[in-house]
Amino acid sequence: MAEAMRVGIIGGGWPGKAHARGYQASGGFKLMAVADLIPSRRREMIDEFKIPREYATWEELVADKELDAVSVCLPTHLHAAATIAALRAGKHVVCERPPTLSGAEAKRIETAATKAKKIVLYGMQRRFGGAEMATKQAIIKGYAGKVYHARTVWTRTRAVPIGTGWFTDREKAGGGALMDLGSVMLDLGWHLLGEPKPVSVYAVTQKRLPGLVRDGVKFDVEEAAMALVRFDGGLTLEMTVSWALNQSPAQNGVVCRVHGDEGAVEVYTSRGAVMHRGFGQKGESKETPLKLPRMSGHAAMMRHFRECVLGKAAPTLGAAQGVTLMRMLEAMYRSAESGKSVTM
Ligand SMILES: NC(=O)c1ccc[n+]([C@@H]2O[C@H](COP(=O)([O-])OP(=O)(O)OC[C@H]3O[C@@H](n4cnc5c(N)ncnc54)[C@H](O)[C@@H]3O)[C@@H](O)[C@H]2O)c1
Repeated sequence: MAEAMRVGIIGGGWPGKAHARGYQASGGFKLMAVADLIPSRRREMIDEFKIPREYATWEELVADKELDAVSVCLPTHLHAAATIAALRAGKHVVCERPPTLSGAEAKRIETAATKAKKIVLYGMQRRFGGAEMATKQAIIKGYAGKVYHARTVWTRTRAVPIGTGWFTDREKAGGGALMDLGSVMLDLGWHLLGEPKPVSVYAVTQKRLPGLVRDGVKFDVEEAAMALVRFDGGLTLEMTVSWALNQSPAQNGVVCRVHGDEGAVEVYTSRGAVMHRGFGQKGESKETPLKLPRMSGHAAMMRHFRECVLGKAAPTLGAAQGVTLMRMLEAMYRSAESGKSVTM
Protein backbone atom coordinates (compact mmCIF):
# COMPACT_ATOMS: atom_id res chain seq x y z
CA MET A 1 0.00 0.00 0.00
CA ALA A 2 2.11 2.87 -1.28
CA GLU A 3 -0.77 5.36 -1.17
CA ALA A 4 -2.08 6.94 2.03
CA MET A 5 -4.14 4.73 4.35
CA ARG A 6 -7.66 6.12 4.81
CA VAL A 7 -8.47 6.42 8.50
CA GLY A 8 -11.57 7.06 10.59
CA ILE A 9 -11.44 8.17 14.22
CA ILE A 10 -14.10 6.94 16.64
CA GLY A 11 -14.37 9.08 19.76
CA GLY A 12 -13.39 12.74 19.73
CA GLY A 13 -12.03 13.15 23.27
CA TRP A 14 -8.35 13.84 24.11
CA PRO A 15 -7.09 10.51 22.74
CA GLY A 16 -9.11 10.91 19.51
CA LYS A 17 -7.37 14.22 18.87
CA ALA A 18 -3.98 12.82 19.84
CA HIS A 19 -4.44 10.00 17.32
CA ALA A 20 -5.42 12.49 14.61
CA ARG A 21 -2.29 14.57 15.30
CA GLY A 22 -0.21 11.39 15.31
CA TYR A 23 -1.53 10.28 11.92
CA GLN A 24 -0.82 13.70 10.45
CA ALA A 25 2.68 13.96 11.92
CA SER A 26 3.65 10.44 10.94
CA GLY A 27 2.61 10.81 7.30
CA GLY A 28 1.15 8.09 5.09
CA PHE A 29 -2.43 8.52 6.33
CA LYS A 30 -5.47 10.45 5.19
CA LEU A 31 -8.02 11.38 7.86
CA MET A 32 -11.38 10.64 6.27
CA ALA A 33 -14.05 10.39 8.97
CA VAL A 34 -14.88 11.00 12.60
CA ALA A 35 -17.62 9.52 14.77
CA ASP A 36 -18.85 10.84 18.10
CA LEU A 37 -22.26 11.05 19.73
CA ILE A 38 -21.50 14.64 20.73
CA PRO A 39 -21.85 17.02 17.74
CA SER A 40 -19.48 19.65 19.21
CA ARG A 41 -16.72 17.05 19.55
CA ARG A 42 -17.17 16.06 15.90
CA ARG A 43 -17.11 19.72 14.89
CA GLU A 44 -13.84 20.34 16.75
CA MET A 45 -12.22 17.38 14.99
CA ILE A 46 -13.52 18.48 11.59
CA ASP A 47 -12.29 22.04 12.08
CA GLU A 48 -8.88 21.13 13.45
CA PHE A 49 -8.04 18.24 11.13
CA LYS A 50 -10.12 19.05 8.01
CA ILE A 51 -11.88 15.69 8.20
CA PRO A 52 -14.45 15.42 5.37
CA ARG A 53 -17.02 12.94 6.81
CA GLU A 54 -18.82 12.70 10.14
CA TYR A 55 -20.98 10.08 11.82
CA ALA A 56 -22.80 10.04 15.14
CA THR A 57 -22.19 6.40 16.08
CA TRP A 58 -19.25 4.03 15.82
CA GLU A 59 -21.43 1.54 13.92
CA GLU A 60 -21.95 4.02 11.08
CA LEU A 61 -18.24 4.78 10.78
CA VAL A 62 -17.28 1.10 10.81
CA ALA A 63 -19.72 0.56 7.92
CA ASP A 64 -17.87 3.15 5.78
CA LYS A 65 -16.38 1.00 3.03
CA GLU A 66 -13.76 3.54 2.03
CA LEU A 67 -11.80 3.28 5.27
CA ASP A 68 -8.70 1.09 5.58
CA ALA A 69 -8.25 1.64 9.31
CA VAL A 70 -9.94 3.04 12.39
CA SER A 71 -8.87 4.40 15.74
CA VAL A 72 -11.11 3.26 18.58
CA CYS A 73 -11.03 6.02 21.20
CA LEU A 74 -14.27 5.09 22.94
CA PRO A 75 -14.96 4.41 26.62
CA THR A 76 -13.36 1.06 27.49
CA HIS A 77 -16.58 -0.99 27.63
CA LEU A 78 -17.08 -0.27 23.90
CA HIS A 79 -13.53 -1.22 22.78
CA ALA A 80 -14.22 -4.89 22.09
CA ALA A 81 -17.49 -4.41 20.18
CA ALA A 82 -16.15 -1.61 17.99
CA THR A 83 -12.76 -3.26 17.37
CA ILE A 84 -14.25 -6.64 16.46
CA ALA A 85 -16.83 -5.03 14.14
CA ALA A 86 -14.07 -3.00 12.44
CA LEU A 87 -11.91 -6.11 11.98
CA ARG A 88 -14.86 -8.00 10.50
CA ALA A 89 -15.43 -5.06 8.15
CA GLY A 90 -11.84 -5.51 6.92
CA LYS A 91 -10.21 -2.63 8.75
CA HIS A 92 -6.98 -2.43 10.71
CA VAL A 93 -7.44 -0.99 14.21
CA VAL A 94 -5.59 1.17 16.69
CA CYS A 95 -7.52 0.71 19.95
CA GLU A 96 -7.00 2.88 23.01
CA ARG A 97 -5.92 1.48 26.32
CA PRO A 98 -6.71 -0.35 28.52
CA PRO A 99 -7.34 -2.85 25.72
CA THR A 100 -10.66 -4.19 27.07
CA LEU A 101 -12.63 -4.87 30.24
CA SER A 102 -11.32 -8.45 30.53
CA GLY A 103 -8.96 -11.10 29.21
CA ALA A 104 -11.91 -12.87 27.57
CA GLU A 105 -12.79 -9.77 25.55
CA ALA A 106 -9.14 -9.31 24.53
CA LYS A 107 -9.10 -12.95 23.42
CA ARG A 108 -12.17 -12.35 21.24
CA ILE A 109 -10.37 -9.43 19.61
CA GLU A 110 -7.31 -11.61 19.01
CA THR A 111 -9.48 -14.30 17.38
CA ALA A 112 -11.22 -11.73 15.17
CA ALA A 113 -7.89 -10.18 14.13
CA THR A 114 -6.42 -13.56 13.21
CA LYS A 115 -9.51 -14.47 11.20
CA ALA A 116 -9.63 -11.12 9.41
CA LYS A 117 -5.82 -11.07 8.92
CA LYS A 118 -5.82 -7.46 10.10
CA ILE A 119 -3.61 -5.57 12.54
CA VAL A 120 -4.65 -4.54 16.04
CA LEU A 121 -2.38 -2.11 17.82
CA TYR A 122 -3.32 -1.03 21.34
CA GLY A 123 -2.57 2.62 21.93
CA MET A 124 0.13 2.36 24.58
CA GLN A 125 1.80 5.56 23.54
CA ARG A 126 4.20 5.45 26.48
CA ARG A 127 6.02 2.66 24.61
CA PHE A 128 6.67 5.35 21.99
CA GLY A 129 7.90 8.09 24.33
CA GLY A 130 11.44 9.31 23.58
CA ALA A 131 12.91 8.33 26.97
CA GLU A 132 11.09 5.00 26.91
CA MET A 133 12.25 4.09 23.39
CA ALA A 134 15.85 5.10 24.24
CA THR A 135 15.63 2.88 27.33
CA LYS A 136 14.30 -0.06 25.35
CA GLN A 137 17.11 0.27 22.81
CA ALA A 138 19.77 0.44 25.56
CA ILE A 139 18.32 -2.69 27.18
CA ILE A 140 18.20 -4.54 23.85
CA LYS A 141 21.87 -3.64 23.30
CA GLY A 142 22.63 -5.24 26.67
CA TYR A 143 23.99 -2.12 28.38
CA ALA A 144 22.26 -3.06 31.66
CA GLY A 145 23.25 -6.73 31.35
CA LYS A 146 20.36 -9.07 32.00
CA VAL A 147 17.43 -7.01 33.29
CA TYR A 148 15.48 -8.65 36.11
CA HIS A 149 13.43 -6.06 37.96
CA ALA A 150 11.28 -3.08 37.00
CA ARG A 151 9.77 -0.52 39.31
CA THR A 152 6.95 1.60 37.94
CA VAL A 153 4.99 4.31 39.68
CA TRP A 154 2.34 6.77 38.54
CA THR A 155 0.97 8.51 41.58
CA ARG A 156 -1.29 11.48 41.11
CA THR A 157 -2.07 13.45 44.26
CA ARG A 158 -5.55 14.42 43.01
CA ALA A 159 -6.59 13.75 39.41
CA VAL A 160 -9.56 11.44 39.02
CA PRO A 161 -10.47 11.28 35.31
CA ILE A 162 -14.11 11.90 34.49
CA GLY A 163 -14.31 11.86 30.67
CA THR A 164 -17.97 11.77 29.69
CA GLY A 165 -18.77 10.18 33.05
CA TRP A 166 -17.69 6.53 32.73
CA PHE A 167 -14.14 6.36 34.18
CA THR A 168 -15.29 5.78 37.78
CA ASP A 169 -18.02 3.26 36.87
CA ARG A 170 -16.76 -0.32 37.16
CA GLU A 171 -19.22 -1.65 34.57
CA LYS A 172 -17.88 0.73 31.93
CA ALA A 173 -14.22 1.11 32.94
CA GLY A 174 -13.51 -2.37 34.34
CA GLY A 175 -11.81 -0.79 37.37
CA GLY A 176 -10.24 2.44 38.55
CA ALA A 177 -6.65 3.66 38.79
CA LEU A 178 -5.34 0.13 38.19
CA MET A 179 -7.14 -0.17 34.84
CA ASP A 180 -6.38 3.41 33.82
CA LEU A 181 -2.83 4.20 34.99
CA GLY A 182 -1.91 0.64 36.01
CA SER A 183 -2.50 -0.79 32.53
CA VAL A 184 0.01 1.73 31.20
CA MET A 185 2.72 1.34 33.83
CA LEU A 186 2.39 -2.46 33.94
CA ASP A 187 2.68 -2.50 30.18
CA LEU A 188 5.74 -0.26 30.20
CA GLY A 189 7.62 -2.27 32.82
CA TRP A 190 6.66 -5.56 31.16
CA HIS A 191 7.80 -4.22 27.76
CA LEU A 192 11.16 -3.06 29.14
CA LEU A 193 11.71 -6.45 30.81
CA GLY A 194 11.23 -8.10 27.41
CA GLU A 195 7.61 -9.24 27.92
CA PRO A 196 8.41 -12.28 30.06
CA LYS A 197 5.65 -14.80 30.80
CA PRO A 198 3.76 -13.87 34.01
CA VAL A 199 3.76 -16.55 36.73
CA SER A 200 1.98 -14.96 39.69
CA VAL A 201 0.56 -11.70 40.91
CA TYR A 202 -0.04 -10.10 44.30
CA ALA A 203 -1.95 -6.85 44.52
CA VAL A 204 -3.94 -4.56 46.75
CA THR A 205 -6.40 -1.84 45.83
CA GLN A 206 -7.36 1.15 47.97
CA LYS A 207 -10.50 3.24 48.17
CA ARG A 208 -10.22 5.56 51.13
CA LEU A 209 -10.43 9.24 50.30
CA PRO A 210 -13.81 11.01 50.39
CA GLY A 211 -15.07 13.73 48.07
CA LEU A 212 -13.06 12.83 44.98
CA VAL A 213 -15.99 13.21 42.56
CA ARG A 214 -19.14 15.31 42.47
CA ASP A 215 -22.16 14.06 44.38
CA GLY A 216 -24.25 11.74 42.25
CA VAL A 217 -21.32 10.48 40.11
CA LYS A 218 -20.99 6.69 40.39
CA PHE A 219 -17.61 5.84 41.92
CA ASP A 220 -17.35 2.12 42.66
CA VAL A 221 -13.69 1.62 41.69
CA GLU A 222 -10.34 1.94 43.45
CA GLU A 223 -8.43 5.20 43.56
CA ALA A 224 -5.04 3.51 44.11
CA ALA A 225 -3.37 0.13 43.67
CA MET A 226 -0.06 -1.58 44.46
CA ALA A 227 1.10 -4.77 42.78
CA LEU A 228 3.96 -7.23 42.48
CA VAL A 229 4.30 -9.56 39.49
CA ARG A 230 6.63 -12.56 39.21
CA PHE A 231 7.62 -13.69 35.74
CA ASP A 232 9.38 -16.70 34.28
CA GLY A 233 13.04 -16.81 35.22
CA GLY A 234 12.47 -14.94 38.51
CA LEU A 235 11.99 -11.54 36.85
CA THR A 236 9.82 -9.15 38.87
CA LEU A 237 7.84 -5.95 38.55
CA GLU A 238 6.51 -3.73 41.32
CA MET A 239 3.98 -1.02 40.62
CA THR A 240 2.11 1.69 42.46
CA VAL A 241 -0.55 3.86 40.84
CA SER A 242 -3.05 6.39 42.13
CA TRP A 243 -5.64 8.84 40.94
CA ALA A 244 -5.62 10.25 44.44
CA LEU A 245 -3.13 9.81 47.26
CA ASN A 246 -2.11 11.98 50.17
CA GLN A 247 1.53 12.57 49.28
CA SER A 248 4.00 15.40 48.85
CA PRO A 249 3.21 17.38 45.66
CA ALA A 250 6.77 16.54 44.57
CA GLN A 251 5.74 12.89 44.30
CA ASN A 252 2.99 13.61 41.77
CA GLY A 253 4.24 11.94 38.60
CA VAL A 254 5.89 8.89 37.10
CA VAL A 255 8.85 6.70 37.99
CA CYS A 256 10.22 3.85 35.92
CA ARG A 257 13.45 2.09 36.84
CA VAL A 258 14.80 -1.05 35.27
CA HIS A 259 17.52 -3.00 37.05
CA GLY A 260 19.94 -5.44 35.45
CA ASP A 261 22.97 -7.41 36.56
CA GLU A 262 25.33 -4.90 34.90
CA GLY A 263 23.44 -1.65 35.20
CA ALA A 264 20.18 0.20 35.60
CA VAL A 265 18.12 2.76 33.73
CA GLU A 266 16.07 5.53 35.27
CA VAL A 267 13.59 6.42 32.54
CA TYR A 268 12.15 9.67 33.89
CA THR A 269 14.68 12.29 35.01
CA SER A 270 15.09 15.97 34.19
CA ARG A 271 17.85 14.84 31.75
CA GLY A 272 15.68 12.22 30.07
CA ALA A 273 16.52 8.54 30.48
CA VAL A 274 19.82 7.95 32.28
CA MET A 275 21.85 4.72 32.22
CA HIS A 276 23.93 3.76 35.29
CA ARG A 277 26.78 1.31 34.75
CA GLY A 278 30.10 0.25 36.21
CA PHE A 279 28.87 0.01 39.80
CA GLY A 280 31.68 0.19 42.36
CA GLN A 281 32.01 -1.32 45.83
CA LYS A 282 30.18 1.62 47.43
CA GLY A 283 27.41 1.68 44.83
CA GLU A 284 28.92 4.54 42.82
CA SER A 285 28.25 4.34 39.08
CA LYS A 286 28.90 6.03 35.77
CA GLU A 287 25.88 7.93 34.45
CA THR A 288 25.11 8.23 30.73
CA PRO A 289 22.09 10.16 29.47
CA LEU A 290 20.55 8.16 26.61
CA LYS A 291 20.16 9.64 23.13
CA LEU A 292 16.53 10.26 22.18
CA PRO A 293 15.05 9.00 18.91
CA ARG A 294 14.07 11.63 16.33
CA MET A 295 10.37 10.78 16.23
CA SER A 296 8.37 9.94 19.36
CA GLY A 297 4.87 9.97 20.85
CA HIS A 298 1.75 9.47 18.78
CA ALA A 299 3.59 10.20 15.53
CA ALA A 300 5.99 7.32 16.22
CA MET A 301 3.08 5.11 17.25
CA MET A 302 1.22 5.74 14.00
CA ARG A 303 4.38 5.25 11.94
CA HIS A 304 4.75 1.89 13.69
CA PHE A 305 1.09 1.10 12.90
CA ARG A 306 1.73 1.76 9.21
CA GLU A 307 4.82 -0.46 9.27
CA CYS A 308 2.71 -3.23 10.84
CA VAL A 309 0.05 -2.91 8.14
CA LEU A 310 2.77 -3.01 5.49
CA GLY A 311 4.17 -6.19 7.07
CA LYS A 312 7.46 -4.55 8.06
CA ALA A 313 6.92 -4.83 11.84
CA ALA A 314 4.91 -6.78 14.39
CA PRO A 315 2.58 -4.69 16.56
CA THR A 316 3.72 -3.62 20.01
CA LEU A 317 1.32 -3.94 21.86
CA GLY A 318 -0.66 -6.25 19.54
CA ALA A 319 -3.74 -8.43 19.91
CA ALA A 320 -1.99 -11.42 21.53
CA GLN A 321 0.00 -9.32 23.98
CA GLY A 322 -3.21 -7.47 24.87
CA VAL A 323 -4.63 -10.76 26.12
CA THR A 324 -1.66 -11.32 28.46
CA LEU A 325 -1.80 -7.74 29.72
CA MET A 326 -5.53 -8.03 30.48
CA ARG A 327 -4.99 -11.37 32.22
CA MET A 328 -2.35 -9.81 34.47
CA LEU A 329 -4.73 -6.97 35.36
CA GLU A 330 -7.55 -9.42 36.04
CA ALA A 331 -5.24 -11.48 38.25
CA MET A 332 -4.39 -8.30 40.17
CA TYR A 333 -8.07 -7.64 40.88
CA ARG A 334 -8.56 -11.26 41.95
CA SER A 335 -5.58 -11.00 44.28
CA ALA A 336 -6.81 -7.71 45.75
CA GLU A 337 -10.21 -9.25 46.41
CA SER A 338 -8.93 -12.50 47.92
CA GLY A 339 -5.92 -11.12 49.78
CA LYS A 340 -3.88 -13.92 48.22
CA SER A 341 -1.28 -14.31 45.54
CA VAL A 342 -2.81 -15.44 42.24
CA THR A 343 -1.02 -17.96 40.03
CA MET A 344 -1.42 -17.34 36.33
N1 LIG B 1 -3.69 7.11 25.77
C1 LIG B 1 -4.01 8.01 26.66
O1 LIG B 1 -3.18 8.78 27.16
C2 LIG B 1 -5.44 8.12 27.09
C3 LIG B 1 -5.86 9.25 27.78
C4 LIG B 1 -7.19 9.31 28.12
C5 LIG B 1 -8.05 8.26 27.81
N2 LIG B 1 -7.58 7.17 27.17
C6 LIG B 1 -8.48 6.07 26.78
O2 LIG B 1 -9.19 6.49 25.61
C7 LIG B 1 -10.53 6.03 25.66
C8 LIG B 1 -11.49 7.21 25.61
O3 LIG B 1 -11.25 8.06 26.72
P1 LIG B 1 -11.65 9.60 26.74
O4 LIG B 1 -10.87 10.23 27.83
O5 LIG B 1 -11.59 10.19 25.39
O6 LIG B 1 -13.19 9.46 27.18
P2 LIG B 1 -14.38 10.49 26.88
O7 LIG B 1 -15.53 10.00 27.66
O8 LIG B 1 -13.89 11.90 27.12
O9 LIG B 1 -14.62 10.35 25.31
C9 LIG B 1 -15.23 9.24 24.73
C10 LIG B 1 -16.01 9.70 23.53
O10 LIG B 1 -16.67 8.60 22.93
C11 LIG B 1 -17.93 9.05 22.46
N3 LIG B 1 -18.86 7.93 22.33
C12 LIG B 1 -19.41 7.16 23.31
N4 LIG B 1 -20.22 6.22 22.80
C13 LIG B 1 -20.18 6.38 21.45
C14 LIG B 1 -20.80 5.71 20.36
N5 LIG B 1 -21.66 4.69 20.56
N6 LIG B 1 -20.51 6.12 19.10
C15 LIG B 1 -19.68 7.17 18.89
N7 LIG B 1 -19.07 7.84 19.89
C16 LIG B 1 -19.31 7.46 21.14
C17 LIG B 1 -18.39 10.03 23.51
O11 LIG B 1 -19.39 10.90 23.00
C18 LIG B 1 -17.10 10.73 23.88
O12 LIG B 1 -16.88 11.92 23.14
C19 LIG B 1 -10.63 5.19 26.94
O13 LIG B 1 -10.38 3.85 26.67
C20 LIG B 1 -9.52 5.74 27.81
O14 LIG B 1 -9.04 4.80 28.75
C21 LIG B 1 -6.31 7.09 26.79
